[in-house]
Amino acid sequence: MPDLYAVIGNPIHHSKSPIIHMEFARQTHQDIQYNAILAPLEGFAATVSAFQQKGGKGLNVTLPFKQEAYTLSIRLTDRANAAQAVNTLKFDQNHPILGDNTDGAGLIRDIEVNQEIPIAGKSILLMGAGGAARGVILPLLERKPRLLAIANRTQTKAQLLQAQFSSHGQIVSGHFQDFSGESFDIIINATSASLQDKLPPLPTGLFKETTLAYDMMYSRNLTPFLIFAQQQGAHHLADGIGMLVEQAAESFYVWRGIRPETRKIIEMLKNNR
Ligand SMILES: NC(=O)c1ccc[n+]([C@@H]2O[C@H](COP(=O)([O-])OP(=O)(O)OC[C@H]3O[C@@H](n4cnc5c(N)ncnc54)[C@H](OP(=O)(O)O)[C@@H]3O)[C@@H](O)[C@H]2O)c1
Repeated sequence: MPDLYAVIGNPIHHSKSPIIHMEFARQTHQDIQYNAILAPLEGFAATVSAFQQKGGKGLNVTLPFKQEAYTLSIRLTDRANAAQAVNTLKFDQNHPILGDNTDGAGLIRDIEVNQEIPIAGKSILLMGAGGAARGVILPLLERKPRLLAIANRTQTKAQLLQAQFSSHGQIVSGHFQDFSGESFDIIINATSASLQDKLPPLPTGLFKETTLAYDMMYSRNLTPFLIFAQQQGAHHLADGIGMLVEQAAESFYVWRGIRPETRKIIEMLKNNR
């Protein structure tokens, strides 16, 4: 019998996680089955419990359940604790539920290994202060950037993140317009504006020719943010498909202790958008 894994969310039909994990399993000769589970909005904990009863070994958690998964976890990794959100659950007969968050590790690996941009010494503008932004702040600061600026529509949320993480590195926060007149080496869109086909209210002049413009969202066409970055002169554009695959690889490692190769599946997903 293969070991059971799944991704759980609502909606879930769009998820690429089953394709990614079954490819990892094929490549690393692991005997697993990985499905997608639609949980009712009010039934996350019951759905997780039923999966566990069936002998399930682990879950990836996606929108809108990452906070609930955090609350449900009995043990948390440091990075899940900092993120206050969980995207990976591990079940083990001898240990209580472990909650982890692999989003930040996925982003870092995509930027440093796939995009070949070292983060140390760089200035970074992180746009957004929701779950995705929170999850990547500590991993970004651990790579020792020169500065991390957090811009959010609701400024108080960015200020709270600045206060929470300021002991880990040089952080400033504000509204988008507060960064007018500055330019950055890496600009990351962790808002959900691209999901609504909108551009965050960015001032002009933030991009240099060498700036990496990174949108955590991925889509068939360039997002409004990436189009804007290109118009502003940035040459290096990336969307979140690499982060998606890399966070999955990190979850696979947490569950199976083996790190799969990611380049081929990233290329395959890029070519089949
Ligand atoms: N590639 C991956 O593996 C991966 C992983 C995780 C997340 N993501 C992506 O990351 C994005 C954010 O997800 P999340 O979970 O952080 O969402 P979230 O918790 O709902 O947070 C949404 C954030 O976007 C901001 N926002 C929403 N609409 C905006 C607009 N029109 N203009 C400016 N700011 C706007 C919100 O600002 P306010 O605080 O002012 O409301 C908030 O900061 C999504 O696109 C998601 O698909 C990708």
